[in-house]
Amino acid sequence: MTTVRIAELARHEGASVTVQGWVLTLRTSGKIAFLVLRDGTGYLQAVLSKKEVSEETWARFGGLSQEASVAVTGTVRAEPRAPGGYEMHATELTLLGASVDFPIQPKEHSTQFLFEHRHLWLRSRRQVAIAKVRHEVVQAIRDFFFARDFTLVDTPILTGSIGEQAGELFSTDYFDLGKAYLAQTGQLYVEAAAAALGKVYCFGPTFRAEKSKTRRHLTEFWMVEPEVAFHDSNDNMRLQEEFVSYIVGRALEARREELKELERDTGPLERVQAPFARISYTDAVQKLNALGSDMAWGRDLGGDDETLLAQQYDRPVFVFNYPKGVKAFYMKENPDDPRTVLNNDCLAPEGYGEIIGGSQREDDYDRLLARILEQGLDPEAYRWYLDLRKYGTFVHSGFGLGVERTVAWICGLPHIRETIAFPRQIHRLYP
Ligand code: 4AD
Ligand code: MG
Repeated sequence: MTTVRIAELARHEGASVTVQGWVLTLRTSGKIAFLVLRDGTGYLQAVLSKKEVSEETWARFGGLSQEASVAVTGTVRAEPRAPGGYEMHATELTLLGASVDFPIQPKEHSTQFLFEHRHLWLRSRRQVAIAKVRHEVVQAIRDFFFARDFTLVDTPILTGSIGEQAGELFSTDYFDLGKAYLAQTGQLYVEAAAAALGKVYCFGPTFRAEKSKTRRHLTEFWMVEPEVAFHDSNDNMRLQEEFVSYIVGRALEARREELKELERDTGPLERVQAPFARISYTDAVQKLNALGSDMAWGRDLGGDDETLLAQQYDRPVFVFNYPKGVKAFYMKENPDDPRTVLNNDCLAPEGYGEIIGGSQREDDYDRLLARILEQGLDPEAYRWYLDLRKYGTFVHSGFGLGVERTVAWICGLPHIRETIAFPRQIHRLYP
């Protein structure tokens, strides 16, 4: 007997095959029984007729419960109304693993309860759909850079210097060398790699000991960070809009079914096409004030300001050239207005806020050293990074896109914690 995955059933129409999976729903009308199975590749309705199966098989069906693992054998029939377009007329049923009192029932559960049972909750239709969209986004990211001849450079997670914000570091003892920090970014390292390889990117988990309990923050998240030699801030924004449009387009093309499962209105996503709108930070503050916000020049944009501003556009918007004081030490000073830096954030529409932070990097040795000292950082820890400005310094830019925020936006989820299999938050380390 051939064992197949649900997604492959089309190739076996008319044949008798076996499918293995987990019981999603069960229902019977006395003589006919319906069993919906999930195997990770799709959903299958198996139909059993009391007349046509053995008494043992019929009895085994009666003993099934939600999330039991089973093997079902039967004939594959086209059924346009069935999910996936096929149905199985079952002749045999084997119980592989019983499931007694599965904790997650088809009813309302509290968020707290669901996250306590995240290891089981992952099996729900909605969570499976989110996982597939995330998978597509990650593959789209890799394909985008591969097609454009970027070289992937894996950067360390244990680091000796602060990448972004001193206040948000996880640290651990590192043998005789003092403290090591979990990477907040791979950026500093890809800058070094850009001088070797031209166009590079890193893609991995990053860590922020953020005390913020918002719907946009995790303590561990995945970030992709391209870095390009001889790109200025404008080139950088052009790359970002192509990149974001590609990712969204790919999700729309390849994950229609999942977005439907998530009841995502895809209209706003269809409009995500380059070029995106651009507004300077200074103009953004004025615009926000006109819209009733009390935002003052010099402050970073808060989540509410981002939402309000992004609502003014029908696609993502770049806010560029922020005040130096609210941004990281490595951003290049704006020669036309030294109070600001040559950076940008990319704000997603529909209230999702910042999905990208990017900038042109300070390429002048003395200015960079001054910024390091100004921020109270230890120049010794950045000796290697300063070297890049000593030996063939070069205009270069890059950015970081947060995978979870991007997936939350594409899926239309209210909180980013559902976009990763096992989210890490200040109050959550289990499961
Ligand atoms: O703006 P951030 O902090 O930028 C950097 O880390 C730069 N080194 C990137 C670079 O230029 N190479 O973070 C970039 C993105 C944010 O826009 C957001 O999408 C995501 O990373 N991000 C978070 N996602 C989830 N939880 C958090 N706590 C996040 N912090 C940042
Ligand atoms: Mg940022």
